[in-house]
Amino acid sequence: MTDAGSVTSALAALIRAQVERAGGWLPFDRYMALALYAPGLGYYANASRKFGPLPSSGSDFVTAPELTPLFGRALARQVAQALEISGTNEVWEFGAGSGALAAQLLDALGDRVQRYTIVDLSSSLRARQRERLAAHGAKVQWAAELPEHLRGVVVGNEVLDAMPVKLLHRSQGVWHERGVMATLAGFEFQDRPTELRPPLDIEGTHAYLTEVHPQAQAFIRTIADRLQAGAAFLIDYGFPEAEYYHPQRHMGTLMCHRGHLADPDPLETPGTKDITAHVDFTGIAVAAQQAGLHVLGYTTQAHFLFNCGVLDLAADAPPKEHAALQKLVNEHEMGELFKVIGLAAGGFWDALGFARGDRTDRL
Ligand SMILES: C[S@@+](CC[C@H](N)C(=O)[O-])C[C@H]1O[C@@H](n2cnc3c(N)ncnc32)[C@H](O)[C@@H]1O
Repeated sequence: MTDAGSVTSALAALIRAQVERAGGWLPFDRYMALALYAPGLGYYANASRKFGPLPSSGSDFVTAPELTPLFGRALARQVAQALEISGTNEVWEFGAGSGALAAQLLDALGDRVQRYTIVDLSSSLRARQRERLAAHGAKVQWAAELPEHLRGVVVGNEVLDAMPVKLLHRSQGVWHERGVMATLAGFEFQDRPTELRPPLDIEGTHAYLTEVHPQAQAFIRTIADRLQAGAAFLIDYGFPEAEYYHPQRHMGTLMCHRGHLADPDPLETPGTKDITAHVDFTGIAVAAQQAGLHVLGYTTQAHFLFNCGVLDLAADAPPKEHAALQKLVNEHEMGELFKVIGLAAGGFWDALGFARGDRTDRL
């Protein structure tokens, strides 16, 4: 049996044991947490390559900082403005993946950043990040949890979509929570009636599957509680709640990625593929506001990068960076589906990245 095969069977055995311990039914968010983060075995915790531009490298998907350093260089302009306005000199990155974005921000920001702290649940990725960022020395640190008080700029690219979601299924007019059972052949979904509801009423009585995001919202509340001065910029795919919970979006947004192919089955070979859900940006903005942060803006990745001057930055870049930049900003690729939300402690200010095309009013 291959190493990957033994990791998969060990993870399946672990999940099976957890299902049994929970009385035969595990809520989907607990299944997703194990499938992605079970130490040494979950998708983000095991040694597989994950990020890269092509399946031939053994990777499963590509993210913006992996495509081109122009992404990090443009974001650095927004981070620089936030550091200056808040009088801080630290960056905190959540879910730093291969360390690509950290390298781009550190190179672009130079001495304006005195300390760059990474928080990542995955020990195998932390090891990759240490190797990649070694040249930056002691300026780069890793933290297992947030300190009581945080001063600086928080960044996270494609982190919110990797946080476990709860699945809700309306069947014959009755809302159910979807959970996971173990069978002889593997895992199966089973629905149980629930008091949980999506944040909006879904018109109609048709069958409707969707997600809710208590963990992502709790994450935002923690940032809000700790952030004494500074701002947070989170980039991810998603939409406002009116679009998320539109009556026609009856299959939800849960998706898996392996070998640069998307598939809809999170129960098949857990540990070998990423499991994600789109972000409900209204839920993120409301959680942030209720916990005392100000929404600086919400816009598409394309608008944000243009506002940060990515075209000037690209002027001297080689042709292959121009092609990659097209992917980041084209409407039919990452330009429109990916959004950026900016949140600030202490008060509102005009953030560079939202100067044009701000869509906060749609949240
Ligand atoms: C899709 S990857 C994105 C990686 C990287 N930001 C990039 O753009 O290439 C998601 C990352 O988020 C991390 N992650 C998920 N939940 C997290 C949390 N609550 N705190 C910190 N990191 C988290 C994962 O370990 C992984 O590194």
